[in-house]
Amino acid sequence: MIVVTTSHEPSTKEKEKAVAIADSLSVLYVDRDRASLDKMYKQYEVDGVLIVTKQGLRYESSGYPSFFFHPNLSVVRLKQWSKGENDAMVRAANLLEGDQVLDCTLGMGADAIVSSFVTGASGRVVGLESEPLLACMVAEGLKNYCSGRPAVDEAMRRIEVMNCNYRSYLAKSRSNSFDVVVFDPMFRKTVYGSKAMQMLKPLANPTAVDEESVAHAVRVARRRVLLKERKNSSEFARLGFKVIHQSSSYAWGVIDP
Ligand SMILES: C[S@@+](CC[C@H](N)C(=O)[O-])C[C@H]1O[C@@H](n2cnc3c(N)ncnc32)[C@H](O)[C@@H]1O
Repeated sequence: MIVVTTSHEPSTKEKEKAVAIADSLSVLYVDRDRASLDKMYKQYEVDGVLIVTKQGLRYESSGYPSFFFHPNLSVVRLKQWSKGENDAMVRAANLLEGDQVLDCTLGMGADAIVSSFVTGASGRVVGLESEPLLACMVAEGLKNYCSGRPAVDEAMRRIEVMNCNYRSYLAKSRSNSFDVVVFDPMFRKTVYGSKAMQMLKPLANPTAVDEESVAHAVRVARRRVLLKERKNSSEFARLGFKVIHQSSSYAWGVIDP
């Protein structure tokens, strides 16, 4: 359980936002006053506190790193891609302007930002995230974060975030309704070098991709279904994906419907 609050001495706007977010997450809003986080964990018997600050949303929980939205490597990846360098996901998906992409595992949104930039204003990127706190924080970040590059900011604003489980979303989706469907689940074994994944891990859904969802994804995708996993992961064979790209720590597998 969590509570939502503000930083010390909030503006009226921050307070109103905190109340609205608490309401949307069906959790308690509490006035911050002078309370320390440790005091709040004990007083409200919660795992963590979501704080609305001038800079955006921050989630704090005892013993874990702070969590806040950041576009992570997407900005660097897009700089490189704009210069004509390859991006492993764009290449694995054969992404084109105007494509419609279903990102089943939004996480911090880095892959979705790259997809949205590449598919452009004529494309569509829907990002699914099963965890309400993550979906809320990442949706808010994608709406408000300023990267300093207007085209990247526009790409972030275009992403449609939905707080739902891909299992139910895919089962209900029409056949051939997206060009590309992407799965990037939490790896069965964590890659410890990734700071973003360390921030994400305590909040993320660790469930492995199930065969039924892959079967639906193959029905829903017009062109390609992608799976990102650790290099040499047995998940590719278990779920029927052919590996087409490997780096030192991860790989992309594909199924062409
Ligand atoms: C490895 S992260 C994805 C990282 C993302 N590709 C990025 O670029 O930031 C996996 C995310 O998928 C979410 N997730 C896992 N299973 C899910 C499911 N069944 N439905 C929706 N989201 C799910 C997790 O909570 C986590 O946030």
